[in-house]
Amino acid sequence: MNNRTVRKAVFPVAGLGTRFLPATKTVPKEMLPIVDRPLIQYAVDEAIQAGCDTLVFVTNRYKHAVADYFDKAYELEQKLERSGKQEQLDLVRHVLPEGVRAVFVTQAEALGLGHAVLCAKPVVGDEPFAVLLPDDLIWNRGGDGALKQMTDLAASSGASVIATQEVPREQTGSYGIVATEGFSGRSGRITGIVEKPSPEEAPSTLAVVGRYVLSPRVFDLLEATRPGAGGEIQLTDAISALLAEETALAYRFKGTRFDCGTHIGLIEATIRYALDNEKLSEPARRMMTDALVEMGVIDSE
Ligand code: UTP
Repeated sequence: MNNRTVRKAVFPVAGLGTRFLPATKTVPKEMLPIVDRPLIQYAVDEAIQAGCDTLVFVTNRYKHAVADYFDKAYELEQKLERSGKQEQLDLVRHVLPEGVRAVFVTQAEALGLGHAVLCAKPVVGDEPFAVLLPDDLIWNRGGDGALKQMTDLAASSGASVIATQEVPREQTGSYGIVATEGFSGRSGRITGIVEKPSPEEAPSTLAVVGRYVLSPRVFDLLEATRPGAGGEIQLTDAISALLAEETALAYRFKGTRFDCGTHIGLIEATIRYALDNEKLSEPARRMMTDALVEMGVIDSE
C-alpha cells in the first residue's frame, strides 16, 4: 500500500438483515439502538476518532432511515429550540461534527459485501480507506477505538490491516478466517484468508471482524472477483488476491466486540452499555437481579 492517511470510511449497510426480521422489514439493522444511539452512530464515531472526514454509506432503496438520520431535521430542531430543550437539540444537531461529510452511494442489488465495497470506489478513488461493519460494535472503554489502533498501524507499516479475534473452532463457518506468520505483538502478516471454512478446513481460529484498512488495489481485484461463498461477491476473496501483491496484517485489537448482527450480541451490548451508563447502571443492575430471582436462576439475598 503506502503510508497515506486514511480519510475515507466506507459503511456497507445494504444487506438484507434477515436475522432481525420482522423488525428489519422497516427498520434497517444499523438503526437498531444500543441504549439511545443507533449502531451506525457508534461506528461513525469510531471512524471520526480515527481521523476520517468522509463517510461513505453504501445503502439501498429501503434504507432511507440511514440517510435521514444524518440529514438535518428542520422541524424537530425548530420544535426543540422553541421549547428550550437545548440538551436534546445538541444531540440531534451533533450526529456529525463540523467538517465531516456524509456521501451516499447505492448498491442496487445485495450481491455481497465485496460488491458493496466496490460501489464506494468512485468516491474513495486511489487512496487507502477504511471499511466498518456497524453490526460489529467494538468497545474499548476509555482507550482508542479499534479503527484508530488500525490506522496507526497502517500508517507505521504501510500495509493493509484487518481486525481479527480468536473464535471457537466450531464457529469458523461464520467468519473469514486468516492464516498468519507468527505474531509480533498484536499483529501478524496474513499468508492466507478464506471465507466461512468448515471447522475441519479452517487454517486457524483467527476470525476477521468488521474493521478493515485497505489498499485501493482491492477495488481492481474486486472488479475481477466472481461470486464465492454463498453465491456472494466476497471481500475476503479480493483480500486473498491482494496477498499475492501486497502485505496485509491481521491485528488483534484492544477492546470487546459485540456481534450485534445476532440477537444475543445485541442484547449483550445493550446490557454492557446500560451497566456503564451513569444514569442507567443502578436501575439496570437492580432490574437484572430482580429478573434472575423471579426466574429462579439465583436466590434473593
Ligand atoms: P451480513 O452478512 O451481516 O448480512 O453482512 P446482512 O444482510 O446485513 O444480515 P443477515 O445475515 O441477513 O441478517 C455484513 C455487512 O455487509 C453488508 C451488510 O449491510 C452488513 O453491514 N452487506 C452485505 C452489504 O452492504 N451488501 C450486501 O450485498 C451484503
